[in-house]
Amino acid sequence: MQNYKSWEVIPVDKSAVQGIPAASATVRVFSPANIALAKYWGKRDLNLNLPLMGSISITLDNVGSFTTVEFDRNLEKDEFFLNKAQIHDACFNRVHETLSRLRALAQRSIYARVQSMNNFPTAAGLASSASGTSALVLAAAHALGLDLSLTKLSELARLGSGSACRSFFDGFVEWKKGEELNGSDSVADSILSSQKWPLKVFIVCVSKNEKSTSSRSAMLLTQQTSPYFNSWVESANKLLPSFRKAIGSQDFKTLAELSELSCMQMHACIMVSQPPLIYWTPATLEVIQLTQQMRLKKGIPVFYTIDAGANVVLICEPEAAHQVKKEIESFEFIKTAVGSGARIL
Ligand code: PMV
Repeated sequence: MQNYKSWEVIPVDKSAVQGIPAASATVRVFSPANIALAKYWGKRDLNLNLPLMGSISITLDNVGSFTTVEFDRNLEKDEFFLNKAQIHDACFNRVHETLSRLRALAQRSIYARVQSMNNFPTAAGLASSASGTSALVLAAAHALGLDLSLTKLSELARLGSGSACRSFFDGFVEWKKGEELNGSDSVADSILSSQKWPLKVFIVCVSKNEKSTSSRSAMLLTQQTSPYFNSWVESANKLLPSFRKAIGSQDFKTLAELSELSCMQMHACIMVSQPPLIYWTPATLEVIQLTQQMRLKKGIPVFYTIDAGANVVLICEPEAAHQVKKEIESFEFIKTAVGSGARIL
């Protein structure tokens, strides 16, 4: 796998499109996924995707979306292909809305063909919407010749999918809750570079299946029906200063405990929604327990986190990476499920 560091624009053969400078008509980019340690789950504004809590994520190096955006005068509407299949559902509508925002900024009315490929399972709780949306914004902005700051790109990505605003930044990234109604202070930025604390991330893929409920609708369901929702929001905001402190002082043990707590609190809150929603499979639980054994019994500096899906992300100190990989490979379900999807990415 090629080594892409955070987002980047990849040179492509540029095609000339009337009305758009030849050099900017077609743009291909890579944008990474990010995995939240302090989770975002709940909105203070549904239309602007403004969060009820601050969140902190870690940006992945090589895992993400490759997206090509091609503005073409011959198109009568936008087209969106995801992993080679043309998409017409709500996901297409979000792509179209994002392109329309960028077109309005550039004062253009030309349609685009968007082709996006993820190098990891799509819609399986592994932040594919974050990498996909950030890649779309980056590619479309470049193709339209817009010279936007990272903060503006991040804001445009947030409007498409909240967590996407964190994918533009390296290392540990905080997305602030903000107070302003228009979201002007709900911005993302890096709080510690990956070079300063190069934690290693493993994705233990126990299911490649698309999740039954998208995070967008699950978040709304939780917010509207979970009896734990208010206490989850309160707790999530209270944990943030401790997260910042643990990251600032590179205190792995505390970061591990806080991250697992945030993950468990979010999932507990989701599980008691009406109707109840469980994203996990038995293999998810197995990975949770084995990871706890690794850290608490064997003293290996590793912890888990899980987004809205069944797959588990393990994070460890760099010097423990080899040992963690060996331990994961010995997980019983990995050994028995060879060929049926369970694997380490
Ligand atoms: O940005 P969305 O709408 O895909 O929601 C993301 C929610 C979680 O991944 C579960 C948590 C997070 O902070 O990324």
